[in-house]
Amino acid sequence: MTLLRIQNVMSNELAKRAFFSRPPEPPFEFLLNDPTDSIFIGITKLFKVPFTWTFASLTNPHLAIVGITGAGKSFLIKTFLIRASYIWNTNAIIIDWAGEYKAWVRQSGGTVVSLAKGDFINIMDLSGMKPLDRTKQIMNSFDILTDISNYPEQRRLTAEAIEQSYLNAGFDIANPPDPKKDAPTIKDVVALLEEKLEENTYQYPAELENAIYRLRQFSREGEDFFAKKSTIDLGKLSTSGLVSIDLSGLPDEQFRAMAALFILQTLKEKMRAEGWSASKGLKAIIVLDEAWKIAGDDRSDAVMIVREGRKYQFGLIVASQNPTDINEAIFSNVGTTIMLRVRFEKFMNYLQGSLNFSQFIRSEISKFGVGQAAIDMSFHTSVQFPDIFILDKVVGEIPLDMYTITVAEILNQDELNNTAIQKEYTFSKMEMNSKLVEINLGSGIIEKVFKEMDAKSGLVDIRLLVQALIRDNVNKDLILEFLRSIGISDILITRIFTFIT
Ligand SMILES: Nc1ncnc2c1ncn2[C@@H]1O[C@H](COP(=O)(O)OP(=O)(O)OP(=O)(O)O)[C@@H](O)[C@H]1O
Ligand SMILES: [Mg+2]
Repeated sequence: MTLLRIQNVMSNELAKRAFFSRPPEPPFEFLLNDPTDSIFIGITKLFKVPFTWTFASLTNPHLAIVGITGAGKSFLIKTFLIRASYIWNTNAIIIDWAGEYKAWVRQSGGTVVSLAKGDFINIMDLSGMKPLDRTKQIMNSFDILTDISNYPEQRRLTAEAIEQSYLNAGFDIANPPDPKKDAPTIKDVVALLEEKLEENTYQYPAELENAIYRLRQFSREGEDFFAKKSTIDLGKLSTSGLVSIDLSGLPDEQFRAMAALFILQTLKEKMRAEGWSASKGLKAIIVLDEAWKIAGDDRSDAVMIVREGRKYQFGLIVASQNPTDINEAIFSNVGTTIMLRVRFEKFMNYLQGSLNFSQFIRSEISKFGVGQAAIDMSFHTSVQFPDIFILDKVVGEIPLDMYTITVAEILNQDELNNTAIQKEYTFSKMEMNSKLVEINLGSGIIEKVFKEMDAKSGLVDIRLLVQALIRDNVNKDLILEFLRSIGISDILITRIFTFIT
């Protein structure tokens, strides 16, 4: 009798009820997966179902995350990486454009590789790859980042010199390398081309000069970040837990993009070489946050990883404030798209056009608060329900309580390269608090200082911190005492004050 009554209500009454005019959610069994084999993200808005993410029924494990600044993209990424590591032991490699993940990675026990601030990569390193293949990759990066493809003769000369440098260093260019041998660097390549120029027998000396000029920008003293022996073992990147490659110390976008492309290439090769093994979950996740130059180009390995990652259990997370910066081959192929708050009509049109969602969802997305999200999943079998739904809020890990003060910006290049000089000082909130209390700051000011540091995700330039203290009328002697107490040398303290006064 009861059953009959329920069925009755189901068929007649429910259809008339308001929530059928609102977008329903995918059925329960598609949202709530085995908690030992999926990642909890948050609670759905409509039926309050805990949503746990897995890629088992999706076209692939890749994610695109879009949303305006402050919407919660990085917070979601951090939450996702931590839980993936708990559940599947997933390794993560963050290509950290602006250095915004550094403090968090340290706090989480991960490794930070600070390029140009003590860490270097030799872009000619092979990590098990044949020199011929690495040469092609280096040329591919030059194609993406420079206009060398418009100058075929320069391109040919460069590729030839790279191969020749491998030969000269004793490598067999068509075979996997002897791991004990040191790879040559771009400096060797430049030297070869210069020798050729001096011989004065080459038909087009201007082409040769231009090829040398292009390469020199990566080998010049002080800017030779990619032309020195690597300080990290690139072959181990995808098996080292949580790693952030901090690119913020490199001088410009071109250098940052060069490093990012190189790392992606290395990871892609590693992924292919490791082959497929039927382990649970994801082996590694690569994060590209605001790396538009890398995520936008058709020739970037990011596209290749999206195409092939599934079978190797490698996932890519691409995040951006601007969805049109993400290459279409990536955007239209990721298994999961997460839309946090989006404001611009142009971006909204693009999202609605490619994901085909309702006006209702559109208006919700434009009103989202921090952490609210619409999620679109592509299932690999056709499904009879709308594949987009709304999360009340991304439920994250406990907020950060580590603070890192960086002095890198006031160091000169020699000091930056010197590994003995400390560039960053990391403290827990308690330690930081007691240091501020020690110099007799009132709790109002201390609170303000923490607020300023929180606004920078816990990573602050020493000058900003000192400026904030001066603004709050803190006595200069007390500031001095504070700087000494955190371990900054008197030479640097003097420099800090000359920078800001
Ligand atoms: N789901 C959430 N729950 C609680 N706090 C959140 C959530 N999402 C974001 N926040 C907080 O909001 C602030 C901004 O978030 P976040 O840094 O992730 O933004 P973003 O989208 O990465 O911005 P940007 O594009 O500027 O990098 C942070 O202080 C973060 O801790
Ligand atoms: Mg961010």
